[in-house]
Amino acid sequence: RIPVIRTLPQLRRWRQEARERKLEVGVVPTMGALHEGHLNLVRASMTRHPLTVMTLFVNPMQFAPTEDLSSYPRQLDRDLSLLSTTLPSLSTSSSSSTNPSRSVRGLGISEHESFRPNPPQSPTAVESPLVVFAPSPEVMYPLKGELQDLGRHKGVSVDVKGWAEVMEGASRPQFFKGVATVCTKLFNAVEPDHAYFGQKDIQQALLLKIMVQDLLLSHPTSSNLHILPTTRAPSGLALSSRNAYLSKFELLVAPVLHRALSSAVDLYNSTTTSLSNEENQVTGEDLVASATRAILDEQERLLSASEDDGGGVELRLDYVEVFDKHTFEPVRGKVGTGREMVVAGAVWVGTTRLIDNLLIGWE
Ligand code: PAJ
Repeated sequence: RIPVIRTLPQLRRWRQEARERKLEVGVVPTMGALHEGHLNLVRASMTRHPLTVMTLFVNPMQFAPTEDLSSYPRQLDRDLSLLSTTLPSLSTSSSSSTNPSRSVRGLGISEHESFRPNPPQSPTAVESPLVVFAPSPEVMYPLKGELQDLGRHKGVSVDVKGWAEVMEGASRPQFFKGVATVCTKLFNAVEPDHAYFGQKDIQQALLLKIMVQDLLLSHPTSSNLHILPTTRAPSGLALSSRNAYLSKFELLVAPVLHRALSSAVDLYNSTTTSLSNEENQVTGEDLVASATRAILDEQERLLSASEDDGGGVELRLDYVEVFDKHTFEPVRGKVGTGREMVVAGAVWVGTTRLIDNLLIGWE
């Protein structure tokens, strides 16, 4: 039974109570349509902090007019039942029945319809280790007319210039402005001590770390914004809410992106483990070429493959890039050793755009 907070005053009261009780708060921002990748972030936060807020908001500002805002899966009921059935510490709430006066209702926080429990037994919001903050668009964008034309956004926006225009930002020009703006709002609303993001969207997570540093935010600080590993299907495919758009046949093809990026990492490893920094001749261009070749090879294979092997599925490369973790500059020339890099890419499988990345040279 997970308390769902919908308004800012409710959230602020919950936060104040957490502060008074000196309970540390972790936040996991999401757009819902939860999968194991999201759940692993929530688990990490719940393991480390007594209180976790999972935010669930499909942020209109980060979708281009041509993108899937209206069709993005919205399934709050399913998400809540997934959370309550898969997170074991939620199924036992020891203190709840001993203190019925501090009920969720008392805090003005409603439990979601499908989770209407026996009211006296429901945990108080601040006693529940997990709450969901699921605001309406009007809560997140309170200025009059702000939501009307997000393309020419009225109101405040946060633009991490220099980091937002490359890679994912080159393919999706307004995307990071939308992400940085909504995350600033979410951080201001929740005032989390710690925040959890997935490596799956590495450019997003690194850009948010830079944003937090540059805006001198303290909740969270840049070092308390944690990036956790990508959760994958056995095929290697990174879990994503958008995988739900893939047909059975497209799902056969989608793991090629991970294989392609792995080939770049293998190339790097095979040269850096056997050669010294000076001898290592492998270049950023080689790494990009290796991953690109793997995708082109798959395209070629699909031309003559049977349907059961993905034949007929349309695979298109958007980009592959190797970039520096700190500057987001593409890595060109000899990569050497001791440099923290990311090999990242995006492909279209049919009408679905998939992204993935692997780390190179990180401690
Ligand atoms: P969403 O795509 O729902 O992802 C929410 C969080 O889950 C992000 O930090 C994302 O990187 C992480 N995540 C997604 N798939 C993952 C996987 N397979 N393994 C590990 N982590 C994974 O990213 C967003 O939402 C939005 O841009 C948001 C930050 C909420 C702002 O609107």
